[in-house]
Amino acid sequence: MDIAPTPVPTRTSGAAPALAAPHAAAGAGVPGRWREVARAANLLDAEGTVAPTVFATMSALATRTGAINLGQGFPDTDGPASLLEDAVAAIRGGVNQYPPGRGIPVLREAIAEHQRRFYGLDVDPETEVLVTAGATEALAAALMALVSPGDEVVVLEPYYDAYAASIELAGATRRTVPLRFPEYTLEPGALAAAVGPRTRLILLNTPHNPTGHVLSETELAEVARVAREHDLLVVTDEVYEHLVFDGRRHVPLATLPGMAERTLTISSAGKTFSVTGWKIGWVHGPAELVEAVITVKQFLTYVNGAPFQPAVANALRLPEEHFAEVARRMQAGRDLLTEGLLEAGFTVSRPGGTYFVVADAAPLGYDDGMALCLDLPRLAGVVGVPVRVFHDDQAAGASLVRFAVCKRPEVLAEAARRLRTLTRS
Ligand SMILES: Cc1ncc(COP(=O)(O)O)c(C=O)c1O
Repeated sequence: MDIAPTPVPTRTSGAAPALAAPHAAAGAGVPGRWREVARAANLLDAEGTVAPTVFATMSALATRTGAINLGQGFPDTDGPASLLEDAVAAIRGGVNQYPPGRGIPVLREAIAEHQRRFYGLDVDPETEVLVTAGATEALAAALMALVSPGDEVVVLEPYYDAYAASIELAGATRRTVPLRFPEYTLEPGALAAAVGPRTRLILLNTPHNPTGHVLSETELAEVARVAREHDLLVVTDEVYEHLVFDGRRHVPLATLPGMAERTLTISSAGKTFSVTGWKIGWVHGPAELVEAVITVKQFLTYVNGAPFQPAVANALRLPEEHFAEVARRMQAGRDLLTEGLLEAGFTVSRPGGTYFVVADAAPLGYDDGMALCLDLPRLAGVVGVPVRVFHDDQAAGASLVRFAVCKRPEVLAEAARRLRTLTRS
């Protein structure tokens, strides 16, 4: 059934850029490691052509068709007014030159305070914190700093696509531990089974993208046990730390016994304060590990976002109610969209946090999530992303689609209304 997409208010300032032109059948003749990076990130097709990421493709599709973009995870509202005003004031006040390599002291202090206030972690802002260009740079620099070519890195699968690329850039190999729809829990023994003699590091992500799974204390204890037993470092990506639902609270892996000394914790202002374009991230952990990361990071971006740093520092000190409110809003978004997806006939995994909901289109007769995502703008005026792109095991995510819930209620309500009109193929 064809449904003319009803126009829904969208904010161009929040729209992702359309980057989806194929990368010029990126050239057989171009030398270098880019091809391995593309292959690692599942961007290389059978003919050796490099495809744009699915996020770019789907965002471009949304722009072209006017469909509601629930593909890429970016909010359609801005963060707290005080945060925006503070950044404007910093620019006007002349905070426009290179900040210190580790980040401005006031932000490092605010990060340390935040970790103490929310989690009771003791972090030295002088030696144990590094401000980065988003969580993405922190991840890339940490991997490049801490693993050597030939090492193995264990990740949960499905995984955020930048992990595969960064592991490849570090010259390492990924070993994956499957999380299975719809519960997405870590199966007992699965993590230990992925660890071998070359394993150097576990790359964890909780709350988890794309599944929305929030690791339980039992699952975290299992990660800690395996890391301690095999003397592994852990890099833990906790960018969705404040987007945890149903009265639960985020538990950083570094708070578990024996873990602070072997864990680098990564987060970012982007998700917590709805400023994904600012790219202010950070990493904290033992001074010698942070020192290793700085050594690499200084030659990636050196520094970034000077006027955003004091603004984020103030935001990290906002009252707890602010943080709770963001989680409540996202939980309401999850509920709204989940209801629409269930009524449409999808099977839905109920996420404990993040920006996302994963739904199975198989009950509707769609076995190929990629094909459905390409058709969904025409069928229902909505864009999602196929979960397959987050998997090594293509069969595992074949009919699954990830939808973003970080949108205004009226946008999600309209998306849910449209999805309900989907009929079985
Ligand atoms: C799990 C995860 N880690 C890291 C990032 C990137 O964070 P940043 O924008 O701060 O680089 C994202 C963004 O979607 C994410 O989902």
